[in-house]
Amino acid sequence: MNIAGSWFARIRVSRAIILILAIIGVLTLSIYFNLPKFESSGIHRSRLKLEVLEDLNSLKASDLKFRIEELLQIKGSVSLELRELESKRNSLQVDVGRYHQNIEDLKLELAKQQTELERLKMSIEQAQVAQQEAIERNSPEVAMPKRLFPPASALREVLPELSKQESSACRMNLCFDYSLCALTSGFPIYLYDPEIFEHFETDSFLRTHLAQTFGYNPHTTSDPTRACLFIVLIGNVSKEYLESMLPKLTYWKGDGRNHLLLHVTRGPYGGPPLPNVNVGRAMIAQSSAVDKVFRAHFDLIIPPAMGPPGGDIWQEYSQMVPARRRLLLSFQGQLSTGAPREELDKFVVAHLQTLLTSKTTDKFILDFTCPEQLPASFTVQPLESEWVPCGTESSRATILKSSTYALILAPTNVSIASTPLILSRLVESLKAGAVPVLLGDYLQLPFAETLVWRKAVLHLPKARVTELHLILRAIPDNDLLTMRRQGRLLWERYMGSVQALTDTVVAAIRDRLLIPPLPAEQELSPSVFNSTFVPLKIDNVVPETEAEESLGPIEPPYPSPQYRRNYSLFLTQGFEMWNDWGDPFHLYPQLPFDPLLPSEAKFLGSGLGFRPIGHGAGGSGREFSEALGGNMAREQYTVVMLTYEREQVLLASIARLVGLPYLNKVVVLWNSPKPPAEDLRWPDIGVPVEIIKAGRNSLNNRFLPYDAIETEAILSVDDDAHLRPDEILFGFRVWREQRDRLVGFPGRYHAWDLEHNSWNYNSNYSCELSMVLTGAAFFHKYYAYLYSYWMPQAIREKVDEYMNCEDIAMNFLVSHITRKPPVKVTSRWTFRCPGCPVSLSEDNTHFLERHKCINFFSEVYGYMPLLNTQYRADSILFKTRIPHDKQKCFKFI
Ligand SMILES: *[C@@H]1O[C@H](CO)[C@@H](O)[C@H](O)[C@H]1NC(C)=O
Ligand SMILES: *[C@@H]1O[C@H](CO)[C@@H](O)[C@H](O)[C@H]1NC(C)=O
Ligand SMILES: *[C@@H]1O[C@H](CO)[C@@H](O)[C@H](O)[C@H]1NC(C)=O
Ligand SMILES: *[C@@H]1O[C@H](CO)[C@@H](O)[C@H](O)[C@H]1NC(C)=O
Ligand SMILES: *[C@@H]1O[C@H](CO)[C@@H](O)[C@H](O)[C@H]1NC(C)=O
Repeated sequence: MNIAGSWFARIRVSRAIILILAIIGVLTLSIYFNLPKFESSGIHRSRLKLEVLEDLNSLKASDLKFRIEELLQIKGSVSLELRELESKRNSLQVDVGRYHQNIEDLKLELAKQQTELERLKMSIEQAQVAQQEAIERNSPEVAMPKRLFPPASALREVLPELSKQESSACRMNLCFDYSLCALTSGFPIYLYDPEIFEHFETDSFLRTHLAQTFGYNPHTTSDPTRACLFIVLIGNVSKEYLESMLPKLTYWKGDGRNHLLLHVTRGPYGGPPLPNVNVGRAMIAQSSAVDKVFRAHFDLIIPPAMGPPGGDIWQEYSQMVPARRRLLLSFQGQLSTGAPREELDKFVVAHLQTLLTSKTTDKFILDFTCPEQLPASFTVQPLESEWVPCGTESSRATILKSSTYALILAPTNVSIASTPLILSRLVESLKAGAVPVLLGDYLQLPFAETLVWRKAVLHLPKARVTELHLILRAIPDNDLLTMRRQGRLLWERYMGSVQALTDTVVAAIRDRLLIPPLPAEQELSPSVFNSTFVPLKIDNVVPETEAEESLGPIEPPYPSPQYRRNYSLFLTQGFEMWNDWGDPFHLYPQLPFDPLLPSEAKFLGSGLGFRPIGHGAGGSGREFSEALGGNMAREQYTVVMLTYEREQVLLASIARLVGLPYLNKVVVLWNSPKPPAEDLRWPDIGVPVEIIKAGRNSLNNRFLPYDAIETEAILSVDDDAHLRPDEILFGFRVWREQRDRLVGFPGRYHAWDLEHNSWNYNSNYSCELSMVLTGAAFFHKYYAYLYSYWMPQAIREKVDEYMNCEDIAMNFLVSHITRKPPVKVTSRWTFRCPGCPVSLSEDNTHFLERHKCINFFSEVYGYMPLLNTQYRADSILFKTRIPHDKQKCFKFI
């Protein structure tokens, strides 16, 4: 229907042109015929003058006077005629000019209409492809099965007790009841109220804070009939008490199936391990592990609780750089029974002591006897073979903070795989940034099913002690800093606070059952208008004249598919989720790290949603603008715009987005408490524009993961940023290949201030950059979650304090996660729009704050995450000479 309309328009346009040409022809002719008359009257006049001279003598004076008057009259009328003709000629010339202009305009209009027609055709083709796909798929997407609830009888059924021997042979398949934990159950856990069972957890600090942190854990349920796992907090209790009390737990049901006995110790001297009693089918989580008693893949080793209950813990961490600290290696401890008795341990100590006297320039602190008495509490329950740390926590921290490596000696009894003492040494070292060196390959480390420790600690058999110095010297700085950074990640995420500890315990068991985490919370998107108010619209918004380039099809809104990898993510990328860029505690709708298909898969069976260029044959110009191409299926992006009381600037910015291909939606964050004026006319740009009422005026709102944002790609733009449609589209295409990175336009960098030995923010023209401004940048929605819920709170607070630096914070976050610099696209270095008010960012305090932000943020991360890049993305055929009949990817970029 639309195509037919355009054809008529085209015919009408051609008719108009012919008509105008005819008019102009007629006009030219008429001017041509006018001119000779003009000239001939001139000739006539001069002839008249001669006749007058001849007759002059023969005339009488009175006649003469009359004749002169007559002649003067004639002259007057002739010049009047002349003037009239002249003005007529001028107006005709003006007309000619106007008609010429009209012709030009019509030609332009024709070109535009043709582009529009092309685009419509393209959009129809795309819609047909999408429809075809929908028909071929012919089956609805797999929906989540109905949630299964445990059969009511399963809970009531009391099973016979297990013998001690059966209990020690427990594995998941033998002792765990999977029927209580459907894959779609969301892994509900039930915590026995520690205030009711207070004789179990004797330490009131732990009792309070563990209960509190489990309360914050979204898996916790108050309904025991729905629970998959029952958690009992157990402190320092006697063997007899435990044996008699466990069967009395309400949901123990004879064998304690699906119970977790959580025995958390506080620090190195937290108390003895759980008494070795028959715990039936219950799992045990504690810091102590004894070989042959510890049931691998059933029981858990957990670190002692050492940090604050929750919240930011970055303040406790020391800076990562310099890589090499004053001391190469340090150790301060003493065997609880005095000197080592085993031969191997005597040898280890003796060898380490020779390091102290060797001629090396490396510095060591290796104390094998403590100057002070061992803590009295420790003598109560001595594991005779344990190395007890010397000094206080803070005195040890001082030494550890100036040590490159921290030695941790395993107990001399090889049956002991883990103790609170060892683990608290481990946590202390990680926190101080000293890379732990564990001597004793029989040691087992916490959460080893999911955490990969070899990237953060050096774990060696005791027999390697003679080679220890060599290894430590041979590790280059980049590996050393990688280990230190990884150590910080493990410490901060999984053991730095009580909350981190309990969340990890829950997640570790959930992961074992392959149940996906609960989805990360999105931010609700309340409209700034009430439900009855209908904002005024402007309908005929015209695209800027420059856009006479067909950039792509106009499609109906197409939200990115979500939660496609619920059950496979932790299989294929579990390592990364736990040990690298991931967040194992939440399920995200999409990740920027989704694996790619091999190229031929999109032609042989997995082509759903793919839009290869030229249907796979490739091509430039037209074929390129018709299809997204690339390695990922089709998708769209959302423009997110933060605004504060600049209504006209905002409306103009929205209007400029009209007709953008692949645009899904525009989300405007209304930061002002004052609602928009009722008489504002909002441009209708063909896609939904949602105006969201922000909670309070904060620049952090720019990065909230609003549920209104339905695409993976977010284009964050300032309300006054002036980007051209081709620039936006090119940025989007580049981002699709760099989904884990920030892709933006103007670049900035962090420069080292030689005078003050600190970082400066710099916006000067430069051939190296490390940040892109988020006033115009693409990023993945995953980073909006991380920015809002995962990044340390101190950074968001600093952004609020200065009302500045949110873009720097985002650059830090992404570089920290990916260890990659951002990607700069096109030659743009600024985007000040002509006529926009000079923004706040110009003045000096703004810059000073940005210097301060950079230094503060790197303190929070413990290092400077930004990385330099000298790379810029331009379209592939930009500046390439190509034949005349071929088109480039983009006309101007
Ligand atoms: C995946 O998880 C999400 C979030 O919990 C849920 O909405 C979706 O239905 C799940 N999909 C499947 C196939 O289980
Ligand atoms: C553990 O309990 C025993 C016996 O009640 C007591 O002697 C010991 O001091 C307690 N240890 C700790 C660290 O609370
Ligand atoms: C080593 O520890 C285990 C477990 O505590 C104990 O049974 C064993 O007797 C100890 N061995 C020595 C030699 O002390
Ligand atoms: C909705 O908002 C409009 C404009 O702000 C106002 O005139 C109207 O009274 C409001 N209606 C309700 C039900 O609040
Ligand atoms: C930017 O360049 C100007 C002129 O070259 C220089 O005066 C100024 O100090 C530079 N600014 C920064 C922050 O380096």
